[in-house]
Amino acid sequence: MPSARLASSLPAALHSGLPLTALAPMQDVTDLAFMRVITHYGAPDYFFTEFFRVHGQSRPEKHILRSIDENTTGRPVFAQLIGEDLAHLSRTVEELLQHNIAGIDLNLGCPAPKVYKKNVGGGLLRDPQKVGEILATLRAAVPGLLTVKMRIGFENTLHFDRLLELINEHSVDLLSVHGRTVKEMYRSEVHYDYIAHAVRRVRCPVLANGNVTSAARAQAVLATTGAVGVMIGRHAIRNPWIFRQCREQLAGRPVLRLTLADVRDYVERLYRATQVPGLVERLHVNKMKKYLNFVGQSVDATGAFLHDMRRTESEAELFGVCDRHLLAEPAREFSAEPYPGVVARPNCETPAAGADGCSLETVSA
Ligand SMILES: Cc1cc2nc3c(=O)[nH]c(=O)nc-3n(C[C@H](O)[C@H](O)[C@H](O)COP(=O)(O)O)c2cc1C
Repeated sequence: MPSARLASSLPAALHSGLPLTALAPMQDVTDLAFMRVITHYGAPDYFFTEFFRVHGQSRPEKHILRSIDENTTGRPVFAQLIGEDLAHLSRTVEELLQHNIAGIDLNLGCPAPKVYKKNVGGGLLRDPQKVGEILATLRAAVPGLLTVKMRIGFENTLHFDRLLELINEHSVDLLSVHGRTVKEMYRSEVHYDYIAHAVRRVRCPVLANGNVTSAARAQAVLATTGAVGVMIGRHAIRNPWIFRQCREQLAGRPVLRLTLADVRDYVERLYRATQVPGLVERLHVNKMKKYLNFVGQSVDATGAFLHDMRRTESEAELFGVCDRHLLAEPAREFSAEPYPGVVARPNCETPAAGADGCSLETVSA
């Protein structure tokens, strides 16, 4: 089959003149259902898929392809790859070019030991020479936008400048920087000064990523880093209105204030969207709990909703808890920022054995 060509300039933002917003790629989260739910409350400018694994036996995963092929959000979708085998990266690009993608994104950040020990994802940040080979291969294979999502280093930032040079040498079109090292995982402070450094060093636009918790934080992070936009992950699970709120904040308009009743609507919509034929109710409820772990950070300051939600086992129990906590005072504010000390710890009720990457099983906020 002939290769499709991709656009060579970044897709236009929803509202020209405003900084960009992107939903961060999240394994087990940013599937078709979640992209649709997010779009209902206010789409980001760009979507990124969960990572496609690339190795000798890999074929683009069907469930990830659905988030491209059946995407009716109207927003561009970048396909993210994780891997290090040059021939198979090229082959996978060829395969993905048959789908309606905005570009190819390379994962240089996944911090799961199972991943970095294979020298892919964040593991590659230890080996700039290999990163150079991969970028050269991808640049040759991608007839359009090539983007990279990286952390600032593996254990330290020794190679950061060299990696930024490689971004320039291989004419990467967009760089997303999560301002932590691999070893810092997800909970440390975010080093926005390193993102600002990247903005100064690379020729392509940079998206700032890490702990952008609210529209107000987005504005502050943009001011500190000089980035062209923000990429938001966990806090879009907590608050799917966040992209709309960012646009309001950045345009100087009043920012939508959310109530607990709004959140009840989100929970219902997410439940319906994630319902698939044959999914056992108990497992569906467990999947919901992983999203609600994040939502619960803004429901109450004591973590009471989280406490009760984590103990539910059926749809009826889950919605009973939601009604009790979200509809008792429906007009009460859903906090724009997470309440301090209310932690979205991963739930321990589902075995983590299947988790081989960045996964809801293992990531908290
Ligand atoms: C559940 C989960 C899954 C993730 N999966 C991916 C992934 O597939 N690819 C990737 O580049 N980053 C992945 N990440 C990292 C996020 O894209 C993002 O860089 C990180 O969560 C920091 O941004 P945040 O503070 O806005 O969440 C994942 C993060 C989480 C929480």
